[in-house]
Amino acid sequence: MRNSKLCTVLDCEKLADGLFSLVLDAPGIAGAAQAGQFVHLACGEGNMLRRPISICEAVDGKLRVVFQVKGDGTKWLSERKAGDTVDALGPLGHGYDLAKLGEKPVFVGGGIGVPPMLYSMQCARKAGAQPSAILGFRSKGAVILEQDFDCPTTACTDDGSYGVHGFVTDVLREQIARATGVAACGPKPMLRAIAEIAKAAGVPCQVSLEERMGCGIGACLVCACALKSENGETKYGHVCKDGPVFDAEEVQW
Ligand code: FES
Repeated sequence: MRNSKLCTVLDCEKLADGLFSLVLDAPGIAGAAQAGQFVHLACGEGNMLRRPISICEAVDGKLRVVFQVKGDGTKWLSERKAGDTVDALGPLGHGYDLAKLGEKPVFVGGGIGVPPMLYSMQCARKAGAQPSAILGFRSKGAVILEQDFDCPTTACTDDGSYGVHGFVTDVLREQIARATGVAACGPKPMLRAIAEIAKAAGVPCQVSLEERMGCGIGACLVCACALKSENGETKYGHVCKDGPVFDAEEVQW
């Protein structure tokens, strides 16, 4: 289900250096949002392309996204004030298949991959699971949303300035024996390492891939990604339409 709509900004706040939280009044999108889906946001008149941003929370008709300022479009978004409007298209894409992740899913997010893990974790719990989370950041100054994860959560930093000193993969190796499934979002090398850990443990794993996007609806081919076909050969899929979430076994790493 897809709605494009001018949504009123309810709140826009800075969470950390270059990272912003934007809350929109978007009942149509929030009501239909599934774990791991994204919205495509228009970023002002000077920016032709919409920006794909994953859904961080969707409650009571309010849609929350958390994004990193990377260019003019996301800078424009970060400067929105309550009462402004933003054109949002969504929810888009295929998200996590929570039923396949079992009763004790672990949600692993790295950096800007953390926000979609929040909504996914909330959806899993709503469906009756007992989720936990592992969140990775570069350093203490980059830690976001940890307090919003009201489930057993381990935060770690690359430099040891906050939480566990190390990578999410170090923590996952220790916890994988208790997990029934892994959902992950973050940089591709991190996802690949997570997929290997899950595979070695015989635990299902789903990953959210990030690619540059144009149309966001499967029409422009900008977001092609390499996947494995049934006979092991490479086939190509669209991150925007077939993903962004894929079974880790399906990804051509
Ligand atoms: Fe256009 Fe995926 S962004 S096909």
